[in-house]
Amino acid sequence: MTGSATAARCTDGRHVVLVGMMGAGKSSVGRALAAELGRPLYDSDDMIEQRVGRSVREIWQTDGEATFRALETETLVEALHADEPAVIAAAGGIVLAEANRRALVDSDAYVVWLVAGVDLLLERVRNGMHRPLLDDDPEGMLRRMHGEREALYQEVADGIVSVDHRSVNDVTKAVLRCCA
Ligand code: S3P
Repeated sequence: MTGSATAARCTDGRHVVLVGMMGAGKSSVGRALAAELGRPLYDSDDMIEQRVGRSVREIWQTDGEATFRALETETLVEALHADEPAVIAAAGGIVLAEANRRALVDSDAYVVWLVAGVDLLLERVRNGMHRPLLDDDPEGMLRRMHGEREALYQEVADGIVSVDHRSVNDVTKAVLRCCA
């Protein structure tokens, strides 16, 4: 892909936010998209780790999920307020808080939901150190979350891109088409 493919998109001047389940590829597609668009990437998990100086897992285990979720809201708001248009890879649980969904819908950002089947998600999350929710029963948890969160992703999404059977490059191109 080349930067020339990025002229005059509906996201010009707007942030692009990637949402979706753990393992859907938000971080890797976010990196490719940011490179393609020549924009900074804000990855909410990374932002939290940098801010607190500890890993997601450590924060989760020491301070609890509620503290982690509050940090998630702070980083989302901070990223959405960035002056320069950016790509934002929002962690899977961002849509759980009503305030976060409102912030996404009320912002000018273009939100793309990366949809994946549970089988693909399962394959991808095996080495997820930053995913304590999947420690005990990854398959059962992913299936439950998929059912519980689908409507929430739908609620915030301006566009939907399927990632099944597609490379990062192909998904990135599909996101760019979706925004064009
Ligand atoms: C979570 C997703 C993870 C991480 C944490 C909780 C979730 O991020 O924030 O383990 O609740 O879906 P990724 O979506 O980047 O894996």
